[in-house]
Amino acid sequence: MISNIFTMGGVKSLRDIDLTGKRVLIRVDFNVPMDAQYTISDDSRIRAALPTINYCIDHNVCSITLVSHLGRPKGGYDERYTLRHLQKRLERLLQKKVEFIDDLDELKAENTHCSIERIFLLENIRFYEGEKKNDPAFCQKLADLCDVYVNDAFGTSHRKDASTYGIADYVETKVAGFLMMREIEAFTKALEKPIRPIALVVGGSKISSKITLLTSVIPKIDKLIIGGAMSNTFLKALGYDMRASLVEDDYVEVAKEVLSEAKAHGVKIYLPVDVVSTDSIEHPVDIKITPVQDVLEGFHAVDIGPATLKLFSEAIDLSNTIIWNGPMGIYEISQFSKGTYKLASIIADSYAFSIVGGGDTADAVEKAGEKEKFSFISTGGGASLELLEGKVLPGFEKLDRK
Ligand code: 3PG
Repeated sequence: MISNIFTMGGVKSLRDIDLTGKRVLIRVDFNVPMDAQYTISDDSRIRAALPTINYCIDHNVCSITLVSHLGRPKGGYDERYTLRHLQKRLERLLQKKVEFIDDLDELKAENTHCSIERIFLLENIRFYEGEKKNDPAFCQKLADLCDVYVNDAFGTSHRKDASTYGIADYVETKVAGFLMMREIEAFTKALEKPIRPIALVVGGSKISSKITLLTSVIPKIDKLIIGGAMSNTFLKALGYDMRASLVEDDYVEVAKEVLSEAKAHGVKIYLPVDVVSTDSIEHPVDIKITPVQDVLEGFHAVDIGPATLKLFSEAIDLSNTIIWNGPMGIYEISQFSKGTYKLASIIADSYAFSIVGGGDTADAVEKAGEKEKFSFISTGGGASLELLEGKVLPGFEKLDRK
């Protein structure tokens, strides 16, 4: 059976087409975090799109139109989410003038005048009604802006929106950008051609959001390392009283099934043996490290403990491929962040091919200061999760095949 990842890897990329004199529309994912003054606090997603944009510039295109969303605006213009906030940073990173434009008709009239390296930045695509509805008329309107459509928005490739999906029906040449290809190559290496043993480290708060991932990945892996609040539900399934900790009672049976499924496939399971727990998450006064069987009455498990880190570290040291998705505790609160940050250092220092799902895990790795030492950090949270779950991402579905 051909896997989802091989299907996506078979798409044409920029290198397979002639760009000379073409109006190129690139769907990028510039959904970057900003502070209250609209200063971008992490521009990795913009940087990740630069190879594609620069390649187009170097190959004598007529014009480049960059299309992205920012945040989740609720219909129409919203000051917080205008892409104007990104214009200067983009100009600095590209070292080129970028023309901001919010009118599609004006953009169409402008981008046919080829001059060397004209780069347009369209206003937040989610301000336009047709985007989230994948409206055919809007798809056609976007398609009219270009001769070549390049999808490089890996982080949004799990969405069936007009600019990530529908537009491809109306453009003759549609290819993947380099970021899309890099993401697929990294996940192919981790899942389809891994150097074994392969470990999946999974965390975050809920089993319910990771159950499809667990069931689809178990047949492919050798070790399953589980931390974060979702491990509470597994521990409850094993008979431990997790006291006031977050437990998904509806998923205790599911947890048991995952454990027996893993056993049936010969997958070794690693669960916390000790936890950091607290009397209050918002206003912690009393913080304890206890074995999982000794969590105190009224206490919430909020991080993995030192004995667990040692256990996980040994499992990681013996792995050659590591996929990490989900933090080990409430890492946003500094007292509960040690488990996640130390695990980031352990994985970073291992000799394994290490790949991190985007979203929270990528953020935690960045905050731990270990970003450079990982083999690959995905730019997509939801997208990388769906990819690991075995889905074909809509953003790849309609692109030209080799
Ligand atoms: C992300 O940040 O995960 C992507 O940009 C997708 O954003 P969305 O979840 O709002 O579609």
